[in-house]
Amino acid sequence: MSFFSNLFDRKKLSATAANLGLLKTDMHSHFIPGIDDGAKTMEDSLRLIRGMKELGYEKVITTPHTMSDYYQNTPGIILDGLENVREELKKNNINIQLEAASEYYVDYEFGEKLKRAEVLTFSGKHVLIEVSFLNPPDNLEATIFNLNIAGYKPILAHPERYPYWHGNMEKYERLRDMGALLQVNILSLTQYYSKEVNQTAMKLVDLSLVDLLGTDMHHDKHLEAICTRALYEPYLHKLLESGKLLNASL
Ligand SMILES: [Fe+2]
Repeated sequence: MSFFSNLFDRKKLSATAANLGLLKTDMHSHFIPGIDDGAKTMEDSLRLIRGMKELGYEKVITTPHTMSDYYQNTPGIILDGLENVREELKKNNINIQLEAASEYYVDYEFGEKLKRAEVLTFSGKHVLIEVSFLNPPDNLEATIFNLNIAGYKPILAHPERYPYWHGNMEKYERLRDMGALLQVNILSLTQYYSKEVNQTAMKLVDLSLVDLLGTDMHHDKHLEAICTRALYEPYLHKLLESGKLLNASL
């Protein structure tokens, strides 16, 4: 469903825009140019990061994909990119704290990287992971177990976007009980991705299973949809007011 058709499917929206500045830190985005499906150029990066600052964020931990089939990023590639973006932020007087880690796809290579401790973490060994949007992963629980044993704090990116778990809220409880934190995308609180994703995100909020909120921002459309729609979603207000989100502690 497109963003524009969503505009005509309005539920009751809040009259006031939510203040994402309350979160202080965003920990999921794609702002290193040219190394994944996020920002393509330095201009894209600067524009999107300026948008984050305008939304009220003080710190951005950007997380390019690492996925052996598509994005063969390494800590070196990501950290070099981070330095380049930081320099440009300085030159352009965009005053915001920028750090980088990665969004790791849980595949064979990720397991090998873990063994070699070649994994980028943030704020005390937090590591962001994702799995397939198509098929249920067979190695996620073992990976969460192994991460915890090795002293990492796994965060599962956008659990609400995995369709095979929709309607199976026990699965989310189980992953959390195993020691994974759950990070919902801000746009999942709207129907940007789909109605089902939205419904699952709202259920996660209702069940107090949401630990972190992320923009997962890749491009201008995401920024625009956050500004024009997500900020007015009652569930975003509800979640921000719950006091349960950990973003500000990162
Ligand atoms: Fe992402």
